[in-house]
Amino acid sequence: MCGIIGYVGSRPCRDLVISGLERLEYRGYDSAGLALPNGDGFTAVRAVGNLAKLKAALEDVAGDATSGLGHTRWATHGRVTHDNAHPHFDQGGAVAVVVNGIIENFSSLRRELQAEGVVFSSETDAEVIPHLLARAYEGDIVEAVQKVLPQLDGHYAFVAMHASEPQRLVGARHECPLVVGVGDGETFLASAIPAFLRETRDVMNLESGEIVILEADGVTVLNGQGPIKRTPETVDMDDDAAEKAGFETFMLKEIHEQPQALYDTLGDRLRPDGNVVLDDFGLDDAALARTERVHIVACGTSYHAGLVGRYLLEDWAGIPVHVEVASEYRYRTCLAGPGDLVIGITQSGETADTLAAMRVARERGAHVVALTNIMGSQATRDADGVLYTRAGLEIGVAATKTHTAQIMGLALLAVKLGRLRWALSGAGAADLGDELRRLPELLQQYLDSPHPAAVAEVAQRYANHRFFLYLGRHVGVPVCFEGALKLKEISYIPTEAYAAGEMKHGPIALLEEGSPVVTVATDGHVFDKVVSNIQEVRARGARVVAVATEGNEQIAEHSDDVLWVPRAQPLLSPIIAILPLQLFAYHVAQTLGLNVDQPRNLAKTVTVE
Ligand code: G6P
Repeated sequence: MCGIIGYVGSRPCRDLVISGLERLEYRGYDSAGLALPNGDGFTAVRAVGNLAKLKAALEDVAGDATSGLGHTRWATHGRVTHDNAHPHFDQGGAVAVVVNGIIENFSSLRRELQAEGVVFSSETDAEVIPHLLARAYEGDIVEAVQKVLPQLDGHYAFVAMHASEPQRLVGARHECPLVVGVGDGETFLASAIPAFLRETRDVMNLESGEIVILEADGVTVLNGQGPIKRTPETVDMDDDAAEKAGFETFMLKEIHEQPQALYDTLGDRLRPDGNVVLDDFGLDDAALARTERVHIVACGTSYHAGLVGRYLLEDWAGIPVHVEVASEYRYRTCLAGPGDLVIGITQSGETADTLAAMRVARERGAHVVALTNIMGSQATRDADGVLYTRAGLEIGVAATKTHTAQIMGLALLAVKLGRLRWALSGAGAADLGDELRRLPELLQQYLDSPHPAAVAEVAQRYANHRFFLYLGRHVGVPVCFEGALKLKEISYIPTEAYAAGEMKHGPIALLEEGSPVVTVATDGHVFDKVVSNIQEVRARGARVVAVATEGNEQIAEHSDDVLWVPRAQPLLSPIIAILPLQLFAYHVAQTLGLNVDQPRNLAKTVTVE
């Protein structure tokens, strides 16, 4: 959360910093700011709101500084105000700092500094850093950072500059991410690679605990022992992903990219005979075959993908699977151990709780694999193996294409484990392989059909309801969880998602005449049970919107509105059934005039616990 960027070079950098922040805005957008050295301290501009506000505030500011730093904030400590926006400064205005993360011992540091006469200008935890740096400064900002780091507890990354050394930036990271971009006579430092991808593809990753010094013509990395050699690597990433490509929002574009994301995630991993090859998994087939249990840890939408994965792994591979939100898993007694496979699902590869849960399991001797969309992310570096989704960069805060790609990744693993454990025959695996291969085309057919427009029409009619109940059974349950999450994230309408069989144990009391109930009623062995639950809610006056399989005319009799989807293998139906629910949430939010790409209070990458 929070995006930070720094630049040192020879070009006027105001617009470079802003363009970097635009590519980091998914990390937080409640306020933003930048600092440019002006020969006599810093020119600092901060604004509450998203980057458009900062850009407006910058109109009269000279843009000729050739170094600078910027920040886009997701508030942790301190309200969303101008004073709490970064950069933060010491009292003399000589040290400028931007921070991502949390300084956990900020209260005691703040008291200590106040006792020495320091006056704080914000409510943030971050502001202690420039004051500590100013106190430690004896003519060298690097030495000041080295002195201050041992005083800080928490997880953070920051970039600092001293006004009397304006051609030098210092960065430090402890758990939160920070990457270096090396250009020709210029260098960048940012929370994530896309921030500088337009300028350079030569990237240096930093490890937790390292300090980096940026000058126009070079980068020095230090660890506790002194300078270390680090060579930049050229990354193969697509900057176009940061454009909307004719769609009105990133979310809509990304919904439409799902066929490609599934196709690329399959890639050549699935062989014609149903064999699955997972490079980088870090376990050979014999060791994988001996796996006794699978634990899946994740947050948010990735957790919902994990819940779908459980059905696939249990059914196709006959292996027990435990799925848990990472923020709980990390603090429970962890019983994973050697012989267990722990999968951390995190599209960003940065989510603090998921990384911590993976770490706990790894310490216990489990084999830990990161299922992630971001090459080189922290999760890939912390894990024993990696399974990449290949969904391309996802910008919309409400995850869509990475979710379906994650399910595809888990489906591949389930087929592979199924074969290795003799739970699937060769013919069975080949049949499932055909079903998986069909999915990209199936999703494309859906998106090209009249169905999405029908979803928009239904969504417009329901947009003014103040509560939605989502009900499903079996694999339909995680689809409901995810559909309900999408709606609450971007439309701010309260939702409840339940296993339909549990409805009578509470949620049914919420229903009144006209209450909308969204049901996942795709074909499968629980279809009749779902229909019974639909009857029960309709008997209480609810209006039912059902996601159902094309050709199933029976459902039309039982529902007020039907969102049709093409037929898929029942266990794979979540990959297609979620599309109308993504679109439903999207069109409700659009009807209400809300910003779907930047929903309030949320951030795409959650690097604090
Ligand atoms: C945030 C995002 C969600 C995402 C979750 C987990 O809450 O807004 O879209 O599902 O984090 O993120 P991860 O990167 O670990 O999948």
